[in-house]
Amino acid sequence: MVRGARWLKRLREEEERVKDADLYKTIEEVFDSATMSHIYRLEARGVIWELKGVVSAGKEARVYWGKARDGSDIAVKIYLTSSAEFRKSIRKYIMGDPRFEGISTSNYRRLIYEWARKEYRNLKRMGEVGVRVPKPLGVSGNVIVMEFIGEEGYRAPLLVEAASQLSLEEARSIYVDVVGQVKRMVCEARLVHADLSEYNIMVYEGEPWIIDVSQAVQLDHPNALDFLKRDISNVQDFFSKLLGGEGLTDLYSEVVPCLREEGLEPQGST
Ligand SMILES: Nc1ncnc2c1ncn2[C@@H]1O[C@H](COP(=O)(O)OP(=O)(O)OP(=O)(O)O)[C@@H](O)[C@H]1O
Ligand SMILES: [Mg+2]
Repeated sequence: MVRGARWLKRLREEEERVKDADLYKTIEEVFDSATMSHIYRLEARGVIWELKGVVSAGKEARVYWGKARDGSDIAVKIYLTSSAEFRKSIRKYIMGDPRFEGISTSNYRRLIYEWARKEYRNLKRMGEVGVRVPKPLGVSGNVIVMEFIGEEGYRAPLLVEAASQLSLEEARSIYVDVVGQVKRMVCEARLVHADLSEYNIMVYEGEPWIIDVSQAVQLDHPNALDFLKRDISNVQDFFSKLLGGEGLTDLYSEVVPCLREEGLEPQGST
């Protein structure tokens, strides 16, 4: 039996034990034959050695904890090619993105493959300029593999989950760090996250990690400015509550010079 089939069998047994009919159906839906062929490809390249358990089961993607050939932990994100809602939600990010020109939005599977590739490229571009994101390790079809943020299969908490445990001092240092990450993302990677919030930031070893960057757009995207304003107000609102309204930076004003360099004329503030 090929290795992939063996761990798939184990994952299935694990889920059957939970005796949840929906979950059982899910595993068949996630690991359809096209997805399996992409996993085999990543296995052949040594990017994936083993899948060990599910980390997150959302409507659009499943994230699994796994191992690479060298024994390191990996996160394997599998976009669901069967999700109808996904099609609607990604359209607004794809329309107007020059990187998607020429790709028909009616070829859904192809669109998802591009979406996964975009997440891979965004992670790479952000990582290269020092934004703290998981290191991308490989992509094939709807499967993207990246560094695992956490230990022994336990993912690090999201900012929203960690918040109540943080001292004021820790929260402040995370805020200052996030501000730096956003500035680097805009000014150096020339990207806007476009879904930034306490739900897409993980806290690991006291530092914020930005995740879920598939929808990030270049500054030349027609909606880049609106997405950026929304990201900034999410961050400011969340930390304003956490820090009791004190010590906030005017993040928008700080990135304005970089927007101007790009020929964008931002008006007003957030
Ligand atoms: N590199 C990683 N290491 C550890 N856990 C991760 C990693 N990436 C994502 N996760 C976990 O998986 C969850 C979902 O990942 P992500 O936010 O990238 O996908 P999503 O598209 O938002 O999925 P959903 O449909 O669940 O909203 C995250 O909230 C986090 O808990
Ligand atoms: Mg998310």
